[in-house]
Amino acid sequence: MRTLIEALKTHNYAYYVLDNPVLDDSEYDQLRRSLVKIETSHPELVQPDSPINQVGDMPLSAFTQVTHDIPMLSLGNVFDYDDLHGFMRRVNDRLNDAQQNPEYEMELKLDGLAVSLKYAHGKFVQAVTRGDGQTGEDITQNAKTIRNLPLWLAAATDIELLEVRGEVLMPKAGFERLNRLALEKDEKTFANPRNAAAGSLRQLDPAIAASRPLAFYGYSVNQGLPNTIDTQSGALAWIKEIGFTVSDVEVVKNPRAAQRYYESVTETRHDLPFEIDGMVIKVNSLALQQQIGFLSREPRWATAYKFPAETVMTRLHAVEWQVGRTGQITPVGKLEPVKVGGVTVSNVTLHNFGEIQRLDVRAGDTVSVHRAGDVIPKVTRVWHEQRPSDSDAVTLPSTCPVCDSPVVLPEGEALARCTGGLFCPAQQQEALIHFVSRRAMDIDGLGERWLISFFEHGLIKTVADIYQLQHHTDEMINFEKLGEKSVQNIINAIDASKHTTLARFIYALGIRGVGEGTAQNFAQYFSDLDSLMNADIETLIKTPDVGEITAELTYKFFRAPHNIEVIDRLRAAGVYWNKVEQLASEGLPLDGQTWVITGALDSMARDEAKAKLQALGAKVSGSISAKTTALLAGDKAGSKLTKAEKLGVKIVAEEEFLAILKEV
Ligand code: IVH
Repeated sequence: MRTLIEALKTHNYAYYVLDNPVLDDSEYDQLRRSLVKIETSHPELVQPDSPINQVGDMPLSAFTQVTHDIPMLSLGNVFDYDDLHGFMRRVNDRLNDAQQNPEYEMELKLDGLAVSLKYAHGKFVQAVTRGDGQTGEDITQNAKTIRNLPLWLAAATDIELLEVRGEVLMPKAGFERLNRLALEKDEKTFANPRNAAAGSLRQLDPAIAASRPLAFYGYSVNQGLPNTIDTQSGALAWIKEIGFTVSDVEVVKNPRAAQRYYESVTETRHDLPFEIDGMVIKVNSLALQQQIGFLSREPRWATAYKFPAETVMTRLHAVEWQVGRTGQITPVGKLEPVKVGGVTVSNVTLHNFGEIQRLDVRAGDTVSVHRAGDVIPKVTRVWHEQRPSDSDAVTLPSTCPVCDSPVVLPEGEALARCTGGLFCPAQQQEALIHFVSRRAMDIDGLGERWLISFFEHGLIKTVADIYQLQHHTDEMINFEKLGEKSVQNIINAIDASKHTTLARFIYALGIRGVGEGTAQNFAQYFSDLDSLMNADIETLIKTPDVGEITAELTYKFFRAPHNIEVIDRLRAAGVYWNKVEQLASEGLPLDGQTWVITGALDSMARDEAKAKLQALGAKVSGSISAKTTALLAGDKAGSKLTKAEKLGVKIVAEEEFLAILKEV
């Protein structure tokens, strides 16, 4: 408990006072929930200085301190439908029989800073930050510079004192612009829009605040609401009418409708012009809100329904080594299963040995795991301060975990390799999986599960054996209890895959270094398989974008008798392709352009991006020059990015690239 309390205090200070959070919101929530859990099960242990009932630390002293007439509260959290039910049950507990299951109102939980605004007879007189909930800072001068904040409410001149509370935030577009400008001027950038908004409001010079793109969204009326209005949705409709900006509001009658609305916003939230970190659900009737009341610093009639965490902490139990198709040995982290971004994750890739060293990660460590959208989960942080004292550093295995052949780490390469080649069952198996995959031979009916089973039963050893499976249908039925119809479907799918393209076939062979894009280039350049197989290294290098290493690997591949035999057997079994049509790039949208790709892309492999660019008529080159039309820059772009910037080559981010693909 002490450890959690001290950690929360430190993080509260970093977040609320310094505007410089060390933790992701969801990591912070996790710490907080751990403490709440202990406090709930052991109320006798609750510490007098527990940060659970305290909104933040003391405000900085540069602005005048103002005590709120009515404290500014915090909100409890729910994370799923069960939690939401629990919240509604607790609301019902405070209501009589006739009042059960009240109407709820839902709003976006805006990710900015809570601010209280006061209007005297319609005139804006004061803005105060939340601060610690009791006392905040007077930021009136800065607030006046917020473009959509009404300074005069013609419809409220009869109201002696009107208090509207809401969120000051920085819209995403403005945030990006601000950071771009900061970069140009070599100044410090902000970590996220919330920090940028906080930093702007805290400027002592209102001229600086005025230059920042801030916006105010109202979400409650705390004093001076006309007594004809008796609901939260009515209050928001009213402030909208008299001149405030409010965000989307939905009134729901039951938990299912609330869940539906929450899910629809979860889907579309990335399209909003500003960031939100969840929804807020409030009892709609103001009279019922009063009746239901408060629990310490939180209303019992409202709660935040947070989005599934995209970064969570968990324990790494072990690091295991997997053998890939071309023998690459990659480390896989085995996690204490944890829900992140809506799915349970128990494995995480650690990429390579260098990454393990960079992260300095060990079995037993607490790690932060990030997963957003469809992106593969990854470890973004290791909590070294929580490392058990008896943990050992991870070492690279000296022999292959599958076939025991020696493992080598070639100079200058990130990936260690098993030297077993196709003697290694793991590599045989991966080669099979690659061969049938969608972008290779596309044998849809022969899923990975059957393929591995047939492999383990010895029905197939090499890819050529796949086209002999029709002679083994009895065994297939025996081994796997497959019905005759399923077996027939598999055989049909295998048969259908015989008609392919040269590019797919080359790719399916799984030559090291030959991805989809290179396979396509080979097919274009050589037009037929035999010329490719017979080409010497000098000729191979002439293929667009084929470097020395790939040329050499390809040359060696076609000199191995085993590979020639497999190719002959495939052709003999009836695998064929149409004559390669030379791509006319003329008239294609990117004709005449030269692109370079660097860094890691989120949505596709680099080879795939390359193939897409080529399909649109662009040349894809490996190095930047003054002739380069554009650089497609993914994550961790390095020297190519610097060079492109120097040469003034256009830099295209992944999002922009996807937009171009959509457009053309
Ligand atoms: S209502 C008593 N509505 O969330 C109700 N808060 O965790 C208190 N927030 O300090 C606030 N959007 O900064 C409310 N639509 C919304 C909100 C919202 C964002 C923030 C606000 C508050 C915090 C509570």
